Amino acid sequence: MKINTLKLHNFRNYENLNLEFSDNLNIIYGENGVGKTNLVEAIYVLSLTKSFRTNDDHNLIKTGNVSTKVEGSVTLNTTNDYEVIISKEGKKVKIDNNLVSRLSDYISKINIVLLQPEEQIIFNEAPSSRRKLLNIEISQLKPDYIIYLNNYNKILKQRNFYLREAYVNGNRSQEYLDILTNKLIQYGLKIYEYRLDFIKKINALITKKYQEIFEYGELTIKYNSDYKNKSSEEIFKNYQKMYYREVVMGKTLSGVHHDDIIFILDGKEIGKWGSNGQQKNAVFAFKLAELEVIKEEKGNYPILILDDLFSALDNKKIKNIVKLLNNDIQTFITTTELSRINKKLLVNAKKFNVKNDAIREV
Ligand SMILES: Nc1ncnc2c1ncn2[C@@H]1O[C@H](COP(=O)(O)OP(=O)(O)O)[C@@H](O)[C@H]1O
Ligand SMILES: [Mg+2]
Repeated sequence: MKINTLKLHNFRNYENLNLEFSDNLNIIYGENGVGKTNLVEAIYVLSLTKSFRTNDDHNLIKTGNVSTKVEGSVTLNTTNDYEVIISKEGKKVKIDNNLVSRLSDYISKINIVLLQPEEQIIFNEAPSSRRKLLNIEISQLKPDYIIYLNNYNKILKQRNFYLREAYVNGNRSQEYLDILTNKLIQYGLKIYEYRLDFIKKINALITKKYQEIFEYGELTIKYNSDYKNKSSEEIFKNYQKMYYREVVMGKTLSGVHHDDIIFILDGKEIGKWGSNGQQKNAVFAFKLAELEVIKEEKGNYPILILDDLFSALDNKKIKNIVKLLNNDIQTFITTTELSRINKKLLVNAKKFNVKNDAIREV
């Protein structure tokens, strides 16, 4: 998977930008705050239609404007033009100038893996941030995963609404609740299966990746789910048992909306016991394992972005990561310090200097 060109219009600090990338290594350098992350963010948005650092798409629009457009030519087996347009009216995506009405059809096309310095944050946050990590990665691989997620969330909302109503006015149609419960279980089990399968594949690779970078350590991911090892009948019975508690609480107390993943390093839960460094490294290993999972499933490596990793890792570990890269992986590295990049790498890389809201190929 290679992105050949990128064209930005009113994206973050860029008014108009046209770039042509190398198939292999692209190095984006410049001082702090000049717009390096903005550029890789644009590539990310082109792939997944969403940013990794804001939930509000409007933040992507250059201040003082009403819309932004990210365009790129991407080669997989064929070369196609992709386009994401964000405006006050919402988001539109196009492939070869044709509007794609379902985002899920677009999102699974361009695959991308991003490593950034603040990865350990997911350990300080609620399980939802770790589910988000799973959701982003699995939706790149399985277009129908997003559809199941959307359906699940829709039913969950309806079911919660029903439970609150039942509490307030006591009028309850058991039949309607059972329909909702069964639908929830049906979609939930699909989501559970996709997550289980993905985590299994990651687990087969993650210790190896961790050791390739950090030299020692056994890393595994444990998947916690209310639906684990249960048949739909068993899950349904559980909901029946919980019914009165759910009515009192006014919400669905069990389901894949409570799923979590636990990272275990040498037998210890690193979310609880790990240092910042270990937590960060664990997520890096997860993402590098994912690179291989995508390659296995899709037949091609995803685009890899290493954003400002020099601020997060020492030279030796960076070297170990770079060693894992091969010519099949189109890579984007952003840095403030060109001097920290291995000379051999620099020679073959395409270099871009970011300055004054512009990017110049060097
Ligand atoms: N919507 C926006 N419109 C204009 N400028 C923006 C917008 N969002 C961010 N910026 C600018 O982008 C800069 C930060 O860019 P960033 O890519 O994070 O820098 P770095 O090179 O350190 O990675 C800041 O100067 C900020 O003012
Ligand atoms: Mg940055």
